[in-house]
Amino acid sequence: MNICRIAYIPGDGIGPEVTAEGIRILNAAAELDGRFRFEWTRFPWGCDYYLKHGKMMDDDGIDQLKAFDAIYLGAVGAPGVPDHVSLRGLLLAIRKSFDQYINLRPVKLLRGAPCPLKSAAPEDIDMVFIRENSEGEYAGSGAWLYRNQPGEVVIQNSVFSRRGCERVIRYAYELARKEHKTLTSVSKGNALNYSMVFWDQIFAEIGREYPDVHTCTLLVDAAAMFMVRDPKRFEIVVTSNLFGDILTDLGAAIAGGLGLAAGANLNPERKYPSMFEPIHGSAPDIAGKGIANPLASIWSASQMLDFFGYKEWGTRVLTAVGCLLAEKRVLTPDIGGTASTREVGDAVIQLLKDGIR
Ligand code: NAD
Ligand code: IPM
Ligand code: MN
Repeated sequence: MNICRIAYIPGDGIGPEVTAEGIRILNAAAELDGRFRFEWTRFPWGCDYYLKHGKMMDDDGIDQLKAFDAIYLGAVGAPGVPDHVSLRGLLLAIRKSFDQYINLRPVKLLRGAPCPLKSAAPEDIDMVFIRENSEGEYAGSGAWLYRNQPGEVVIQNSVFSRRGCERVIRYAYELARKEHKTLTSVSKGNALNYSMVFWDQIFAEIGREYPDVHTCTLLVDAAAMFMVRDPKRFEIVVTSNLFGDILTDLGAAIAGGLGLAAGANLNPERKYPSMFEPIHGSAPDIAGKGIANPLASIWSASQMLDFFGYKEWGTRVLTAVGCLLAEKRVLTPDIGGTASTREVGDAVIQLLKDGIR
C-alpha cells in the first residue's frame, strides 16, 4: 500500500470548506482503488493563527512541511490582516521556499460550465497556463524610502534570472512537445525593455531546440484581448509570475468562474513538496455560509492524483466534475445551482462510487 503523506493547510475563509470536500474525494478515490491511501496532517496556519501568535506559521514551518509528499492548501487572507503580510507569510513563502517554480493552471471550459463569451464552444477554450512562480514581479525585492515624508519613494524590483526564465520556458516547450500543442509566450518587451526583452530572447533561444513546436509570442495586452475574442488560439501558454496571475483570473472568468479554476505549484525535480490549491482566494463575502463552490479545490485534488501517478483517478475526478456540470445537477449558486458545498462533494463521491471514468 502506497501512503501519500499530505500537509493540509485549510487556511482562511472558504479555504477549510472547499478543501474538506477535496479531502473526502481523495480519500474516496484511494479507498475505491485500494493500492494507495492518504495520510493527512493538518496545520492550523493562517490569519486566525496570525492574530493569536503574530505570525502566519510556525518559525520552523517550512522545515515541518519539507517531509511531506505534497501540500493541499485552501486559501489565505482575511480582512483583519494586511494581505501582503498574510500572503507573503504563508502562501508565497511556501511557493518560494520549495522552489515551486511551475504554476500549472488549466483553463478549460467543461461542457455545461457558464461562459460569458457568446460564441465560444467548450472545445474553443482548452489551454494550460504555465506561470513562472518563483521570481519575476513577485521577487519581493525593493525599498520604501523616506516613508511618510514628502519625498516618499517606493521601488518594487522585478527579478528575471537566466536560470529562472530558462527552466520555466523549457518546461513549457517540453509539455507542448509531449502533447503536440502550440506554445504561446506572453510578455511585454515593447515597454519592459530589460525583463521582457530578456524573456523573449530566452524563449527564442530555447525554441531552437524545439523546431517541432509551433510557437507564437504575444504582448500581454493583446493576449488579454485575444483570450476574450479568440480563445482557441491558445493551447500551452508560458508567462511571467504577475502576467500569469492576472491572465489566469481572466481564464477563470471565461471557463466557468473562480469556483472552477485550479492550480498546481510544482517543484518538478521533486526535491521539495509541490502544493495544490484552487486559484481563488478566501472569499470573505461568502465564507461560513456553506455555499462556496468546492469544484476548483476538487480539480486541484485531481491534479494531485495526476502528480502522484494515479492519472486514471485524476481523470475520473475531472470526469465527475464534468458530469455534474453537463447535467446541471448539484451545483453551487456561483454557477447557477442551489446546492451546498457539501452536497457537491457528496455528488462527486457518488459518481466515483458509481464507476464514472
Ligand atoms: P476571491 O477569489 O477570494 O473572491 C473573488 C470573488 O469570487 C468573490 O465574490 C467570491 O465570493 C467569489 N469566489 C471565489 N471563490 C469562490 C468559490 N469557490 N465559490 C464561489 N464563489 C467564489 O478574491 P478576493 O476577494 O480578491 O480576495 C479575498 C482574499 O483572498 C484576499 O485576502 C486575497 O488576498 C486572498 N487571496 C488568496 C488567494 C490564495 O490563497 N490562493 C488567492 C486570491 C486571493
Ligand atoms: C493566486 C493569488 C496569489 C498570487 C496572491 C494571493 C498572492 O492571487 O494564487 O493567483 O498572486 O499568486
Ligand atoms: Mn491570483
